[in-house]
Amino acid sequence: MAKQKTVYICSSCGYESAKWNGRCPDCGEWNTFEETVSTLTTATKSSTSVRDVSDNIVDIKSINIDRKETRWSTGMTEFDRVLGGGVVKGSLILLGGEPGIGKSTLLLQVCQALGQNHTILYVSGEESLRQIKLRAKRLEVDTPNLYLLCETDCEAICGVITKEKPEIVIIDSIQTMNISSLTSASGSVTQVRECTNLFMKTAKTQEIPMLIVGHVNKDGAIAGPKVMEHIVDCVLYFEGQKNMPYRILRGMKNRFGSTNEIGVFEMLGDGLKEVPNPSEALLSERPSDASGCCVACIIEGSRPILAEVQALVTKSAFNVPRRTATGFDYNRMSIIIAVLEKRLGYYLGGLDVYMNVVGGFYINEPAADLPIALALYSSLTDKVIPQDVISFGEIGLAGELRGVSRTQQRIREAQRLGFKKCVISSSSLKSIDKSDITIEVVGANTIAQAFSEIFS
Ligand code: TYD
Ligand code: MG
Repeated sequence: MAKQKTVYICSSCGYESAKWNGRCPDCGEWNTFEETVSTLTTATKSSTSVRDVSDNIVDIKSINIDRKETRWSTGMTEFDRVLGGGVVKGSLILLGGEPGIGKSTLLLQVCQALGQNHTILYVSGEESLRQIKLRAKRLEVDTPNLYLLCETDCEAICGVITKEKPEIVIIDSIQTMNISSLTSASGSVTQVRECTNLFMKTAKTQEIPMLIVGHVNKDGAIAGPKVMEHIVDCVLYFEGQKNMPYRILRGMKNRFGSTNEIGVFEMLGDGLKEVPNPSEALLSERPSDASGCCVACIIEGSRPILAEVQALVTKSAFNVPRRTATGFDYNRMSIIIAVLEKRLGYYLGGLDVYMNVVGGFYINEPAADLPIALALYSSLTDKVIPQDVISFGEIGLAGELRGVSRTQQRIREAQRLGFKKCVISSSSLKSIDKSDITIEVVGANTIAQAFSEIFS
């Protein structure tokens, strides 16, 4: 028996409640509840009997996995790496990102390589056919296997997919799709969830890979994130600062590969270009004789990346000094400042502190503690850090320097880019294999020792 029931769903996290709430008890967001009608099938003992599925139990040893997943290359090494080697047949891939970051551009560019051997259906609910054609022309996408459809009716789209059987489907974007029988507006949690479910069923039954664009809300989460993320096979985020040319494609969930891999792109006049060597690109504009600049080595996925951190310490014009951190955790910066004050006696109390990670990267690794402390010290004392010196390590509250993971890989990357000296913690120094390291590596137990090594 089907019964109509009114439920309220939080548009931020998908929390369901029988009554309206001003504040979501799950995620704490205000004014996010939307009214929606759910059809519940009430099962009573008399109308349904419990199915016996014991025959479906399978011994794990007997499952044959010889057939490898078919993967199709997107023609972009950076994209393929994040996907774990290419697009898997029948997989549902969600590409999230802020509006205007370049999601449509990326997917249209990917069509060029995928279109060499496969037919693609590009469904857009956001742009007109003319707009897409103009963009394709600019991006030099001229594959004859690309078919466009401007439509927002989810059921109609799934019908077309089942009938025409394209080999790849792109949906731009899930927030514009709707199922007409649902009363809520496009982009609401119910619509997003039900449309994703419908697309998922079509993708799985037809074995067609689908790439779905999802816009993120103001907190950086894909609208209705929880309801979508567990349905799809792969969640990718496309991020970066709009006024910076670099864009980072980040894998958050991947049923067919490792997560936390990143792909780096650069937005140019004629589309997105891959950046195979991010360290070189990020360090290319490094000033040679400015104080407050230091190079940090972070691990993104399986790759070490060198990025420049900058600090500016100046006299404050106000009673309460200003402190900002871009690309780095503000609280972490405050801790490092406190350690510099208490353990080394460098007083930053009445000074403004501005910190920035060049290129729009966000560093949340403890390995960047030491470079940040160095950049702060360098700006405070106006001493320039030598160009060919690199350092990394976590700073403890006692002013000690701690080891970080994958030291070997980080040193190798620094060596490849021509650095001559590397300052790390003494404990990390013991664990590295020196046979393939040609640069000078020195260990330090405390920040004070690291400073004297670098500014000697
Ligand atoms: P778009 O792919 O439309 O963003 P999204 O689909 O994520 O909303 O990207 C739009 C931005 O990219 C726009 O601000 C202009 C810029 N852009 C370029 O710089 N070069 C290009 O070749 C293209 C196509 C876009
Ligand atoms: Mg778009």
